[in-house]
Amino acid sequence: MKITPQARSFDEAAADYAENRPSYPPTVLDAVEELAGRPLRGARVADVGAGTGLATALLHARGARVLAVEPGPAMASQLRLRHPEIPLVLGDGNNLPLASGSLDVLTYAQSWHWTDPRSSVPEALRVLRPGGALALWWNDSDHTLPWIAEQDARLRRLFSGPDDAPDPAARFRGLPPELDFTTRRMSWTRTVPLTTHLANLASYSDFLMLGKEATDTFLDAERNLLNKVFPDGTVEERYVVGLAVARR
Ligand SMILES: C[S@@+](CC[C@H](N)C(=O)[O-])C[C@H]1O[C@@H](n2cnc3c(N)ncnc32)[C@H](O)[C@@H]1O
Repeated sequence: MKITPQARSFDEAAADYAENRPSYPPTVLDAVEELAGRPLRGARVADVGAGTGLATALLHARGARVLAVEPGPAMASQLRLRHPEIPLVLGDGNNLPLASGSLDVLTYAQSWHWTDPRSSVPEALRVLRPGGALALWWNDSDHTLPWIAEQDARLRRLFSGPDDAPDPAARFRGLPPELDFTTRRMSWTRTVPLTTHLANLASYSDFLMLGKEATDTFLDAERNLLNKVFPDGTVEERYVVGLAVARR
């Protein structure tokens, strides 16, 4: 399978990922149905880069006939453990183990950017039936909240990222130009213990590549800072889901 070392890093912390990462609000699947022009119930769907199954489980609950496709064996094991009723195959978006024209909807939740579009675009077009939909989405922290913007600046300093705050439209600038995408942005929140918030950060691939010692140092400092912002130990995280859907 053609996946990069950083894309592989999720496998090192698959159980933590499953426990701590945010899922997605129902409005995302409502919008997928609207833009795909069909209900998910009964649809033949493959969820690629399915990870531990956060999005796959939502698609399954809507009645989609969903197959999970995931390259990481440890992520796939978590999916199998948590959702034994959902069919799963090891594979990646650059070389899909799927028959041509076999799908109504192809989804990538937080995983399209790990593929090589020179391969994953033609693969998506191959496996979708005419009129089928490719749906890509990402949960991004909402940087309009001051505490999130400040945390993001600390993260960018740690990982030598750009000085400027991220542009909310950046997600959509990298979409494959050969497809005609319609985009939506949906805001939502989740309230979690501070320990979950920090464990979620630790499951980012940048931290998985950084190593335990430097990660622990950063997270200890974050805990001290956030204890002041959220003295009751409960963090309200706010996300904006960026969704892009294109029909074949
Ligand atoms: C951030 S996780 C998203 C997991 C899940 N979709 C979710 O919403 O939580 C990214 C996933 O993409 C997978 N991945 C990495 N390279 C990939 C590729 N080339 N094709 C498909 N998936 C890939 C990783 O193994 C990981 O499970």
